[in-house]
Amino acid sequence: MSLTGQRVLIMGGGSGIGAAAAALFAARGAEVVITGRTPDRLDAAAASIEGKVTARRVDAASEREVADFFAEDVSYDHLVLAVSGGSGAGPFAGLDLDALRGAFEAKVFPQLRVLQAALPRLTASATLVTASSARAALPGTAGLAAVNGALEAAVRPLAVELAPLRVNAVSPGVIDTPWWDAVPAERRAAMFAASAAALPVGRVGRPEEPAEAIVFAATNGFVTGQVIEVNGGLTLPTGRP
Ligand SMILES: NC(=O)c1ccc[n+]([C@@H]2O[C@H](COP(=O)([O-])OP(=O)(O)OC[C@H]3O[C@@H](n4cnc5c(N)ncnc54)[C@H](OP(=O)(O)O)[C@@H]3O)[C@@H](O)[C@H]2O)c1
Repeated sequence: MSLTGQRVLIMGGGSGIGAAAAALFAARGAEVVITGRTPDRLDAAAASIEGKVTARRVDAASEREVADFFAEDVSYDHLVLAVSGGSGAGPFAGLDLDALRGAFEAKVFPQLRVLQAALPRLTASATLVTASSARAALPGTAGLAAVNGALEAAVRPLAVELAPLRVNAVSPGVIDTPWWDAVPAERRAAMFAASAAALPVGRVGRPEEPAEAIVFAATNGFVTGQVIEVNGGLTLPTGRP
């Protein structure tokens, strides 16, 4: 289906899953605006994508920047919330709760703030990007589960309250994106290998894979209130002892 004439806003579109979604929307003819906090990263992403892509510097965690952005008289058909950040990972007994509060400030409140501010400008869909930590029950992820579970829990009531706007989430598993850059290369490679070995699909994900689910959630007019898991089988009960 062509998306020519439709406008898509991707908050957190300068890299990884958001940038991959921008490329897919643009390939189908949509006009795409990508936002983030790092101008060089945004410009590089916009330059690498064929089609109508504009980069704007907006910090989704800043109430003022978000309000200023939506004060502009521009409407959007689809909103994608791909911002991430903050910590909150690690064994619960030693979990730094201030860091966990920071993770809520870096992901939950920016996504909710942007959605709220966008409402007068938004006509068709909003897609949150959460994480399979919300449901995977992996040791060391209680904090991440709380952050992403908070967003996932909001999806169903939002879909009912904000109708006819459709609200969904895409919940990725381990995806090879710059999100992992903070982990030293050797440790990251070991973590990806361990993850691949544990997954039914035998590998970690590519950013295009959750991005395809984002485009599906945004464009299928009969899908709302759903959390779409794109995680290689991470949350499946394996039956293994
Ligand atoms: N990669 C994975 O394994 C994985 C797994 C589960 C869930 N996820 C989720 O998927 C989403 C996308 O992550 P990704 O893997 O694609 O990582 P990524 O490449 O780091 O993308 C996140 C993007 O968000 C932007 N961003 C962060 N904070 C922002 C803010 N306050 N305002 C505006 N933009 C902001 C970043 O750009 P700037 O820093 O320049 O602003 C970056 O371009 C995140 O919500 C992440 O939690 C990822």
